[in-house]
Amino acid sequence: MTAQAPAQTDGGIRLNGLIKTFRGPHGPIHAVRGIDVSIAAGETAALLGPNGAGKSTTIDMMLGLSKPDGGTVTVFGRPPREAVDAGLIGAMLQSGALIRDVSVRELVTMMASLYPDPMDVDEALEVTGLKAMASQRTQKLSGGETQRARFALAIVSNPELLVLDEPTVAMDVEGRREFWSIMRAFAARGRTVLFATHYLEEADANADRAILMAHGRVVADGPTTEIKARVGRRTLRATLEDVDPSTLACLPGVASAERHGDAVILSCTDSDQAIRALLERYPAARDIEITGGSLEEAFLELTGEPDDEVSELVAP
Ligand SMILES: Nc1ncnc2c1ncn2[C@@H]1O[C@H](COP(=O)(O)OP(=O)(O)O)[C@@H](O)[C@H]1O
Ligand SMILES: [Mg+2]
Repeated sequence: MTAQAPAQTDGGIRLNGLIKTFRGPHGPIHAVRGIDVSIAAGETAALLGPNGAGKSTTIDMMLGLSKPDGGTVTVFGRPPREAVDAGLIGAMLQSGALIRDVSVRELVTMMASLYPDPMDVDEALEVTGLKAMASQRTQKLSGGETQRARFALAIVSNPELLVLDEPTVAMDVEGRREFWSIMRAFAARGRTVLFATHYLEEADANADRAILMAHGRVVADGPTTEIKARVGRRTLRATLEDVDPSTLACLPGVASAERHGDAVILSCTDSDQAIRALLERYPAARDIEITGGSLEEAFLELTGEPDDEVSELVAP
């Protein structure tokens, strides 16, 4: 990737009073109900929220794909369409098929030719791990490879801002790991990245900041470590006699511990770590149950209203 002058990135992303309402069969659907967010150039931010929170609707307006019913969007000081046309934004949307009957290299080359200052095609194929499949027809790619090709299409314009809407959905664990490592390398070059996810773990591992959305509003916004501490705590319950709770509170991943008769209740900052440590040191622990760490609880806490369509916020 070649270095670009940072002058044109002044202002980052600004969303002011953004509103979008859809007409549904049973009345209006308030998908986005007034969002004010600024993302500085060079920042890596996660738009975190359950399905239906309004993440994709927000992203579509940010990319100029749909028009807000209220409020404004600017990207690097420009209206979204202008920023897209100038090659400043690369995007990977939630869905979208690849053109068939062309090779991966041909497709990426075509895309590169649309932009004023594209990345070298070989470099785009290299960083996305597609070099070995460059001559493969797009319809022969696996789900994970297709996602990587879509990723190559998003970065080949050499954008200042990369927008990714739930990019790892079709990927297996290994694919996700690779994907995020490429994304982080891209972000490390000083580019701005905004990605939508409904996994707290993905936001925590890959973003500096999490913007938590629910019901079309931002309900929390801050460093991922803070957001995680606020919403990510889980409770581990187990039957385990004769161990002092203060000893259990010192296990890795455990913040505090209580005893109720034969049962112990551990409040965990990292329940994976906690359960491993617990079983290793106290093999007699049984009837183990882990609860919490879901967005649902977080939203109940933050908004005081339950969300019917909330999905579990657990590691993919
Ligand atoms: N084109 C559309 N027409 C009607 N309703 C829509 C449309 N797009 C999204 N919605 C609704 O808006 C809300 C927010 O959707 P979306 O932005 O896709 O959420 P997310 O990406 O966070 O899952 C949902 O209730 C969804 O059903
Ligand atoms: Mg979405």
